[in-house]
Formats: sequence, structure tokens, C-alpha cells
Amino acid sequence: MPVPPAPALFTFEFAADPYPAYAWLREHSPVHRTTLPSGVEAWLVTRYADARQALADTRLSKNPAHHSEQAHRSGRVGIPGERSAELMTHLLNIDPPDHTRLRRLVSKAFTPRRVAEFEPRVQQLTDRLIDSFAERGSADLIHEFAFPLPIYAICDLLGVPAEDQDDFRDWAGMMVRHAGGKRGGVGRAVKRMRTYLAELIHRKRAELTAQPLPGEDLISGLIRASDHGEHLTENEAAAMAFILLFAGFETTVNLIGNGLYALLRNPDQRALLQDALRRGDSALLAGAVEELLRYDGPVELATWRFATAPVTIGGTEIPAGDPVLVVLAAADRDPDRFDGPDTLDLARRDNPHLGFGHGIHYCLGAPLARLEGQIALATLLTRLPDLELAADPDDLRWRGGLIMRGLRDLPVRFTPG
Ligand code: HEM
Repeated sequence: MPVPPAPALFTFEFAADPYPAYAWLREHSPVHRTTLPSGVEAWLVTRYADARQALADTRLSKNPAHHSEQAHRSGRVGIPGERSAELMTHLLNIDPPDHTRLRRLVSKAFTPRRVAEFEPRVQQLTDRLIDSFAERGSADLIHEFAFPLPIYAICDLLGVPAEDQDDFRDWAGMMVRHAGGKRGGVGRAVKRMRTYLAELIHRKRAELTAQPLPGEDLISGLIRASDHGEHLTENEAAAMAFILLFAGFETTVNLIGNGLYALLRNPDQRALLQDALRRGDSALLAGAVEELLRYDGPVELATWRFATAPVTIGGTEIPAGDPVLVVLAAADRDPDRFDGPDTLDLARRDNPHLGFGHGIHYCLGAPLARLEGQIALATLLTRLPDLELAADPDDLRWRGGLIMRGLRDLPVRFTPG
């Protein structure tokens, strides 16, 4: 049988539904050289086994200095509009031993316990947001819910005072709009955020020096964290706060947005979850969020990696200096790893998805993302039980940046209450 022609990648249609193209790649060209929209040549790794191996391969560096076309800044895990070297030196752009040192320090402050203690606050934020539209009977769940929740949550966790959080919401909004292609104002927004965070860190450090009480917030935790007598410098703490905001914001927006959309498109699965929640049985909820991460996860492609030596993946040799992009969304639909991979099955048992990555760069914020995803979905489905899509699915617009994939809007209607 002749091989069907290669699908077009990174087009408008592809952003709306990349999965048929990924199925073609897995089958016919699992380690695939392509030209990205930016003009950069890169390799796409689409099979589960290869993806997992690549994510853990120490010959694949996160440091863009290993890119053979170093002139391209495109390989940096970019904060849009950001150029300063200090803020570029964060976990997703570095290798051991620097990565090990910084990750160990941040892990001392950003602990699962700190996240667990944050649960009542996330619940409160979620309820407050739902209160703001519940009586209207309609809402855009991206703009009014999925977007503000993670930004307020992360601001709270970091210790950004309540009166400044709306500024963050505006700045973050400009960064996400940029991800859709428009550049206007993003440089200014990032600069303001950067200046603000640097001042906040400076102020908190002074407060902690004057009165060394244990600070409740994560920025205080970052300043105090020490490992064998080592501390983060102010620049490192600023870069860390920034990457937490940046890595933890749009991803969580997309978990809530893509997740809700998948539930609205799969009524039987949604009913299963709603029934369980009604019975007060929350056992299904955790697995449901994992399945939503697998089925249509927020991070479509893992962030850039560069071959420091010739590396063979899935039988294909990748030359030193070439960028490698691991396609998490393709790996998580691989029929060689998952039964019925294109079916949403909230009760799926064997689900080692790669939605949070794998290896030393495994998502640091996974406990927070899970907490927010579980609370957001459970509270919405419980408080607005007859929630339904108020648009033709074909009319919904997707934001298809290279790394992330998510809806621009999600109009819904429901019985006011
Ligand atoms: C790394 C996914 C939420 C902070 C990663 C990676 C993935 C990921 C796939 C690995 C990237 C790679 O190897 O190239 C997600 C998803 C999220 C989410 C799907 C939401 C559903 C968060 C949150 C935070 C966060 C809420 C923090 C508040 C980070 C950080 C890294 C990271 C700091 C870099 C870790 C390192 O390089 O050592 N995330 N993330 N993420 N994530 Fe998340």
C-alpha cells in the first residue's frame, strides 16, 4: 500500500486538531526532521518509547549554546519579549550541575506540603470566580475562569500582595496574547513584571533580614532556602519566580480549558465524573485529571533540547547541534503504549502519561497543577451541573504556539444559580 502523503504541520487546521498528523508521524516518520514556522530545522520525536528515552537522555542538553545555529535565539525557552541573560538562566535552559543545584534549592521552598496547605485558598479563589458569573447563565470559561485562576493562585503562593495581583493578570494576558502571534506591548508587560518581582524580592529579603521570622510565602522561602550553606542570589530568585509564573500559568489555563472542553465533548465520561462527585466519591477525580493531561495535555511539545553529540533515537541518527522536540501530545496517544489511545477514559488504570515530562526536568509544579485542575473541574461541574457548550466546536479558536496548545475562548451556558 502506498504511504499516504505527509500531513501539513503547524497550520491553522493542525492547531485545531493535530492528532491525525501525529498518528501519521508515529507510523511513517517517528523521528521526523522538519522546518518550524520560525525557519529553524528541528527533529520531532513522536513515539512514546522514543519520547521517554529522549527526555531522559543526558546527551540532549537544555542549553541553547549547543544549538548549531546559535544565532537563533529561538531555542531558548523564551519568556516572550524577554532578552535579559539573567532571566534566561532558569531551570528549563540549563543542565547539571547548575540545574541540580537550582532545582534542589527551589525544591526546599516549593514543597508538596506547601502546595497541600494551599488547598483552601485555591478552593476560595475558584468559588469567587464562579460567583462572578454564576447568576448570568453564560460565561467564557477561558477568560473568566481558566485564565484568572492560575494567575491569582500563583501570585498568592509567591506572596504578591492582593492589591497588585490585577496588574499581574493584565501583564500575563499580554504575554498569552503574544503567544497567539501579536507582539504589541508584550515587551513592556514583561519588563514591568520583571521590575516588580525584583523589587518584591529585594523588599522581602530586607524584611527577612530585619525580622527573621519564617515567611509564609514562596518568595520568602526561595530567599531563605539553603543547601550546604548555598543560597539563591537575588537574580536567581527573580529568574526562579519568573519561571514559576511563566511555566505554571498558561499550562494550567490549558489544563482547565482543554479538560473542560474534552468533558463537554464526551458526555458519558462527564456524567461518570459528575455522578461520582454527587455521591461524594472523589476517587475518580484524580485519575480523571491524569487522563485529561494524557488525552489533550497543555504542553504539546516539550521545551527545546539540543544534541551535544550524534544521538540515535528510534533508529534515526540526529547530528550534534540539532534541536530535538519531543512531542508529548503524540507520545501520549501512542497505541503501542495506551489501549484505545484516542478514547477519553477517565477510569483508565495504566496511565504513565508524559504530560508533565520525564527525567530531571519533570514538572516542578505538578502537585500545584493537579490541585488546581481537580478543584477547578470538580467545583464547576458541581456548582453548574447542566453546563453546556454555547458554540459550534468548529468555530472555537485554538492558540497553537509551538510548545503549548489551548483554546482562546470557551463559551458556555447553564442554569443561573
Ligand atoms: C517543567 C508541564 C504546571 C513549573 C515542565 C515540563 C512539562 C510541564 C512537560 C517539562 C518540560 C521539558 O522537559 O521540556 C506542565 C503542565 C502543567 C504545569 C502540563 C499544568 C497542567 C506547572 C506549574 C508550575 C510549573 C503550576 C509552577 C508553579 C514548572 C517548572 C518546570 C516545569 C519550574 C521546569 C523544571 C525543570 O526544568 O527542572 N512542566 N506544567 N509547571 N514546570 Fe510545569
